Amino acid sequence: MPGIVIVGAQWGDEGKGKITDLLAEQADLVIRFQGGNNAGHTIVREGVKWKFHLIPSGILYPGKLCAVGNGVVVDPKVLTEELEGLRAKGVDLSGLRISANAHLIMPYHLLLDTAGEARLGKLQIGTTRRGIGPCYADKAARLGIRVQDLLDPKILKKKIVAAMEPKRLTLRPFAKSPELDLQSMTEEYLTYGHRIERYIADTAKLVWDTLDRDDTVLFEGAQGTLLDIDHGTYPFVTSSNPVAASACTGSGAGPKDIDEIWGIAKAYATRVGAGPFPTELDDELGESIREGGGEYGTTTGRPRRVGWIDLVALRYAVRLNTLTHLVITKLDVLSGLGSLRVCTGYRGADEATFKHYPYHQSVLHQATGAYEDLPGWDDDITECRTEEDLPTAARDYLAFLSEFVGVPIALVGVGPGREQIIWTDAGRSSAASAASAAQRA
Ligand code: IMP
Repeated sequence: MPGIVIVGAQWGDEGKGKITDLLAEQADLVIRFQGGNNAGHTIVREGVKWKFHLIPSGILYPGKLCAVGNGVVVDPKVLTEELEGLRAKGVDLSGLRISANAHLIMPYHLLLDTAGEARLGKLQIGTTRRGIGPCYADKAARLGIRVQDLLDPKILKKKIVAAMEPKRLTLRPFAKSPELDLQSMTEEYLTYGHRIERYIADTAKLVWDTLDRDDTVLFEGAQGTLLDIDHGTYPFVTSSNPVAASACTGSGAGPKDIDEIWGIAKAYATRVGAGPFPTELDDELGESIREGGGEYGTTTGRPRRVGWIDLVALRYAVRLNTLTHLVITKLDVLSGLGSLRVCTGYRGADEATFKHYPYHQSVLHQATGAYEDLPGWDDDITECRTEEDLPTAARDYLAFLSEFVGVPIALVGVGPGREQIIWTDAGRSSAASAASAAQRA
């Protein structure tokens, strides 16, 4: 103990990577538990930019145990490229572990993802086209190919044949695609197997052993609560469970192993891809927040949709994840915008109003935000390092959010740099902060 979970409390891209990086310094193990290379984050270390899609960024601490858990879907091409990139920059990879039970994204998953979106036409989800959905679909259909299969040529080939067979019709337009050739696909994947063999491990046991030693495990989520396949804005969601509960299934930990659950939210809201977004700002103000916050996808480069913070959705995320701590990132992006709106309810069709997140898709699609206006601030807050340094209006804004959702704010982000963070009292007294004491000294 302790086990600390980090999840996105909105639609992803909340800045989880930076917070994980911060808390990882003193953690003994960092493990990712779901999603794949649809995720991506950039962290800035001493002026150098690092981009990660699969490997926890904790790997930048020499020798740190960093695991890719069983709940993650792994594109071995992307993984080996990421590994080679890190190795070329002299990063010590000795702490890397990859679950033997993680499922593999295969070339046909990429084709099926793109074809599926094309077929949906106007109804498309706006996926990252990384093959995530088809890979999880095969996992559920018991047709998945796992990391451990890369080490056995016979089994690998057999499983590829079995997995492709039911897809024959859908894959017919790609029949001549070289990447679908059985022999070369098998050979390519065996090569990946050789490259990652030394990192393949029983990561569930690694989690248990670390917790049983009373060491700290950081469970790193990807995407965000509202993209959860069960609890998000279905069908405009990802194909895994980004909620905290899945830190257990995706890593092998049990529910009692979790001590703190940190939810990360931006001071405003963004979403990539299609789907309901009640507080969306489809205007110049939205455009200026997009520019100010650099709201373009790390993975796909797509401009993100932007809106006011949605406290109805955030309160829903608090309950779903049983958040113990909240982190508000990018507060600096709101500087100089004038009065700030916070969404505290929804207006539906026929003058209906909602205080709770509606479970019905049609209701949610028609919902627009009902707002309270709070005073903004003009001061540059990027140099603030304590709550007292912040202008009163910024402090009041944070207090409003925290009170509305009923969770203390532990950290506030005021810029992209690692040091541009404010620890609050709640943050300082957390188990995670014990792990990060060096950061605050
Ligand atoms: P998929 O995960 O590629 O299948 O995409 C499904 C939905 O999740 C799309 O709306 C994507 O834009 C969204 N999505 C997936 N990964 C991320 C992420 O890391 N950040 C934000 N949105 C994401």
